[in-house]
Amino acid sequence: MKLITILFLCSRLLPSLTQGEVSQEIDCNDEDVFLAVDVALKKYNAGNQSGNQFMLYRVTEGTKMVGSETFYSFKYQIKEGNCSVQSGLTWQDCDFRDAEEAATGECTATVRKRGTKKFSLATQTCKITPGNGPIVTAEYTCLGCVHPISTDNPELQPVLKHAIEHFNNNTEHSHFFALEEVKAAQRQVVAGANFEVTYSIVQTNCSKKDFLLLTPECKSLPNGDAGECRDSAFVDIKQKIVQFSQNCDLYPGEDLEQPLPEDCLGCPKKIPVDSPELTEPLGHAITKLNTDNSHSFYFKIDTVKKATSQVVGGMKYFIEFIARETECSKESNTELTANCEVKPIGQSLNCKANVYMRPWENKVQPTVNCRALETITMLRRPPGFSPFRSVHAQETKGTTRRLNCEYKGRPSGAGAESAPGSKAESSHLAQ
Ligand SMILES: *[C@@H]1O[C@H](CO)[C@@H](O)[C@H](O)[C@H]1NC(C)=O
Ligand SMILES: *[C@@H]1O[C@H](CO)[C@@H](O)[C@H](O)[C@H]1NC(C)=O
Ligand SMILES: *[C@@H]1O[C@H](CO)[C@@H](O)[C@H](O)[C@H]1NC(C)=O
Ligand SMILES: *[C@@H]1O[C@H](CO)[C@@H](O)[C@H](O)[C@H]1NC(C)=O
Repeated sequence: MKLITILFLCSRLLPSLTQGEVSQEIDCNDEDVFLAVDVALKKYNAGNQSGNQFMLYRVTEGTKMVGSETFYSFKYQIKEGNCSVQSGLTWQDCDFRDAEEAATGECTATVRKRGTKKFSLATQTCKITPGNGPIVTAEYTCLGCVHPISTDNPELQPVLKHAIEHFNNNTEHSHFFALEEVKAAQRQVVAGANFEVTYSIVQTNCSKKDFLLLTPECKSLPNGDAGECRDSAFVDIKQKIVQFSQNCDLYPGEDLEQPLPEDCLGCPKKIPVDSPELTEPLGHAITKLNTDNSHSFYFKIDTVKKATSQVVGGMKYFIEFIARETECSKESNTELTANCEVKPIGQSLNCKANVYMRPWENKVQPTVNCRALETITMLRRPPGFSPFRSVHAQETKGTTRRLNCEYKGRPSGAGAESAPGSKAESSHLAQ
């Protein structure tokens, strides 16, 4: 029972941020990997009318994408088992069929995680090689399911073009902004398609005064103002964007390092990171951070890296800070207090906050945007606990982590072959 609790805590420790999408490495000890593969494989077996069930042999690649939704993308190898699809058994209850006549296969799947332990299959492609015969491919796409797509998918081009135009048409900034980088994108097919895209933008050297449009001659300013946006668009079957919403946070550029004109009232001013003036806006920022993220522990402000204030019909603060996970859980504490100590092994976040305050109206508008700084060191679980044994972990290729998580099989029966070795190779991870 204790083990279960530890495991539960571990999986909840993974950062779950409200904005942006972060790809994370996964390893064979991540219980969610097994649960996600199980859902995908059961779906595959359920789609087969006759013949034998396939069993998990091993997981070879995997990434976890954490955004407003969590997705696992992975590749796994399967082998034919000795119990039929109609037997009513689950694949875990079968044994591998004799190697010579058994079919083998490889599947690529994307699974969405909902809630703490619910998984649903978004897409899957399986290539099956029968014991003797040609390769058969089976595809599965969950129509209507949201799933991540590549950030360079050409279908995103019209959406991004529209998004940048929309931003430039609807912001007061003196200069045009251009797209910097697409960070994440999701698509849902529904008589047309819904897109959700996260990207960054950057100020160009073309002012709206001198230019009517953003043109290719407008170049990004390396120290210009920058922004992060998260947009939703609905593209109908005629490829027309019929619905669009945009949510951008703008951050002042580095050129603030240069002295600003002394007497410019509405200009952003640098303020010392330990200024007492920051106490209130920092309080709003950390409260917002803790409310918005679904992490089970409170974060507190560790270091303030820089801060500016600007008089704009109220006060606008821009603050960059590092927040760290504390030992106070949201479950047993109603709020973050001064007594909450930083966790020795916890998550750190690099955050940028915009806090707009109009004290005479009691109005406060904080926005906070954070990125995970370092992933937490996973607690090592007792050997034999994971359903996988990691044979050897290989190099990371791009953002896809090469894995070699071999399914151990049942503790008894055919799983017996794994018993002698399984104690020694509990968690042999790369780095
Ligand atoms: C069903 O399983 C058999 C092997 O038992 C395989 O050859 C066949 O391709 C599978 N059918 C489908 C629709 O996946
Ligand atoms: C599968 O094989 C195992 C071991 O050979 C055997 O004990 C089991 O009964 C078989 N299952 C079925 C459904 O034939
Ligand atoms: C932006 O403004 C231009 C000029 O008024 C207009 O042609 C264009 O359709 C607008 N784009 C968006 C996305 O609002
Ligand atoms: C912007 O920068 C590019 C490259 O440095 C230059 O060719 C262009 O003339 C500049 N445009 C303006 C309006 O300053």
